[in-house]
Amino acid sequence: MSEAVRTILQADGLAAREPGREAEAGFLWDFWYPAVRSSLIRGNKLVTAMLLEVPLVLGRTGEGRAFAMRDSCPHRGIPLSYGHFDGATVECSYHGWRFDACTARCVEIPSLTSQDKLKVERIFAGHYPCEERDGYVWVYMNSPGTRLPETMPVAPALPVFSKKYKIAHLDCELPSHVDQGIIGLMDPAHGPFVHQSWFWRSKHSIHEKQKQFEPIPYGFRMSPHSPSSNSAPYQLLKRITGEGVTTTIDFVLPNTRLEEIHSGKMWFSSRATVTPVRRDLCRIDFVAAWNLPFLPVSLFRMFGKTFLRQDQETMIKQAEGLKHDPKLMLIDDADRPAKWYFGLKANLLESRRSGTAMEHPMAGPVTLRWRS
Ligand code: FES
Ligand SMILES: [Fe+2]
Repeated sequence: MSEAVRTILQADGLAAREPGREAEAGFLWDFWYPAVRSSLIRGNKLVTAMLLEVPLVLGRTGEGRAFAMRDSCPHRGIPLSYGHFDGATVECSYHGWRFDACTARCVEIPSLTSQDKLKVERIFAGHYPCEERDGYVWVYMNSPGTRLPETMPVAPALPVFSKKYKIAHLDCELPSHVDQGIIGLMDPAHGPFVHQSWFWRSKHSIHEKQKQFEPIPYGFRMSPHSPSSNSAPYQLLKRITGEGVTTTIDFVLPNTRLEEIHSGKMWFSSRATVTPVRRDLCRIDFVAAWNLPFLPVSLFRMFGKTFLRQDQETMIKQAEGLKHDPKLMLIDDADRPAKWYFGLKANLLESRRSGTAMEHPMAGPVTLRWRS
């Protein structure tokens, strides 16, 4: 976490968690979320993370399987991450109860005598399904107090289009609710003001745009189109392949923006997810893969970091304003994707509540116009 973000959070005293506030948090449960980078969990190290205000402890078994438990001992609540992991079981640091890492089932309570009748194997620590994809450990956050679905959805994977490719990961924390992070991610109008860079574009390149959008399950798609003519990298790509460039951008619940760029055999694929950590903190995880020979990972990271930093600095400033609970607005057409996001989210929650099919907030394809 950056110093500035930490300072904002501390100044607000936002660390406290009041019981019964889950409903107000505005999180979408029952989805996969990226918890940590895969490379962080190695050996018998226990690593902590927080998703949707749930403290997690993660690790990797001797066989290489990642696991995620609620970072809280079911005996007296001390974080299990203070305990010891031997590659198969996690031992609590307080009274030494041991839990199987993959099932979270209790396997030993050292204080029990041969007289005791307590069924140790009936005790479980909190436990979450865990999958590794694209260099992340994904955790399925099923809503508190519910069972896992009979058929689990698969964890998301970044689409790639050739055997060999480069891949890079970036992340950044934003001191805001996940909704602000997401509408910031899909907002087309801030580009010329927040992302002014010599290598990308200037404020003066602002011009009218018209994009076609269509509904897709749980989200919407900016239909395949030729990307903005005012961006240098696209012009370069076109010059190299001698073929047209097409971009498709999808947003899907709970939090994912996918972008695919193709030009001849060249491709670039990226995914940004905005994951709720707490109601006042979210994290962008950005992963990109490509087979463009002129784009080394180091160069991509440099540009990517600049972009993310520009967004982060803006959202730190925005958080300052949001402390005072101002009235906000969403305008057409530039904020229409944000309206769809809120519509999708509300309709999904309603369909889960009522047990009926989810209604899509878009009736069909729509053309949006804005200047950016
Ligand atoms: S608190 Fe974990 S064993 Fe007692
Ligand atoms: Fe941005």
